[in-house]
Amino acid sequence: MKLLITGGAGFIGSHVVRLFVTKYPEYQIYNLDALTYAGNLANLKDIENAPNYTFIKGDITDAKFLEDMFAELSLDGVIHLAAESHVDRSITDPMSFVMTNVVGTVNLLNAAKNSWASTGGFEGKRFYHVSTDEVYGSLHNPEDFFTEETPYDPQSPYSASKAASDHFVRAYGNTYKLPVVLSNCSNNYGPNHFPEKLIPLMIHNIQTNKPLPVYGKGENVRDWLFVVDHARAIDAVFHKGKEGETYNIGGFNEWKNIDIVHLLCGIMDRKLGRPEGTSAQLITYVTDRAGHDLRYAIDAHKIMNELGWEPSLQFAEGLEKTVDWFLANQEWMDNVTSGAYQSYYQGMYANR
Ligand code: NAD
Ligand code: DAU
Repeated sequence: MKLLITGGAGFIGSHVVRLFVTKYPEYQIYNLDALTYAGNLANLKDIENAPNYTFIKGDITDAKFLEDMFAELSLDGVIHLAAESHVDRSITDPMSFVMTNVVGTVNLLNAAKNSWASTGGFEGKRFYHVSTDEVYGSLHNPEDFFTEETPYDPQSPYSASKAASDHFVRAYGNTYKLPVVLSNCSNNYGPNHFPEKLIPLMIHNIQTNKPLPVYGKGENVRDWLFVVDHARAIDAVFHKGKEGETYNIGGFNEWKNIDIVHLLCGIMDRKLGRPEGTSAQLITYVTDRAGHDLRYAIDAHKIMNELGWEPSLQFAEGLEKTVDWFLANQEWMDNVTSGAYQSYYQGMYANR
């Protein structure tokens, strides 16, 4: 199996690459990543010299590059995670989300389709598109959950771009019979999470005594899943998912933002030896995100019943592990917040 994983230097992608490189030594894993601000090869330091692992610096918006790469590598499968992933950035710069998430995904579909069609057909091939629960929109009734049948109703430029990419993947499955499979997952958290997102930002700001910006009233609800459990689910869908199907992935673990921030303040007070209640004084309510989705909640019964996947970690344990990782990896955080990680790796791969 020669497997291309896109976006493998990012948060979730790095956990997927690690899982596949270590669990399947007989596979050749190619990690294709443009190393945008969100890509950091330090996330993969522990496996970078594995004999079955190769990093390729490249941009999925470059169709010719993808075509040449597919011709050279004779790939059997693709797990596509590369994306612009931050909702706030999509509000200030929607076009880069259209380029990477929509155009980039269609480029990748074309490269896979054309290369496979001209080298023996689609038998034994698989194109797996990793997507988000945000494509379903925002829930307002507390009893509702997103199922695989929930109509798409994206509300932000980010979720609109992911919804468009999902539609293209399904359209290629239907029109060209490309063997596709998709999953839509809820909010991930864990080691290597980029500190523009809620949980790592709060951990970093608590540690450095900076304000903790809570959007609006902090009443918005997200369904949190430990990133390694998402990687395990991706493994299950890639190997056991039915062609053409979609699997929702989530932790049945809903939290209001403000409650998570208080939880983190409590954990950090304990770990940093601060008197209880110290960090919570940093909480600052700020202007709400434009068009802020109220609630996401995934019904994950399909993947649990059909593929036998289930989350392995409770939230309390996962958050402790996450905080411990950030406290033990201060250098990772320093390099990210100073920007040093970018010049180092961009320089290293500049001419490839
Ligand atoms: P991330 O932003 O941490 O990483 C994205 C990676 O893609 C980075 O390494 C970046 O360099 C790379 N990339 C960006 N543009 C590229 C391009 N044009 N060409 C090649 N590589 C490019 O994202 P993440 O949080 O790890 O999310 C990964 C995927 O999972 C995304 O598709 C996202 O929509 C989806 N997802 C994320 C979450 C979440 O909670 N973070 C939940 C569900 C689904
Ligand atoms: O649901 C899956 C999605 O989860 C993924 O598809 C996205 O790629 C990922 O970024 C995430 O999107 P969210 O917008 O839910 O995540 P974020 O961490 O940005 O915000 C989580 C919640 O916290 C959200 O309601 C906004 C709020 N928030 C966020 C930040 C960064 C704050 O209150 N303050 C903040 O500073």
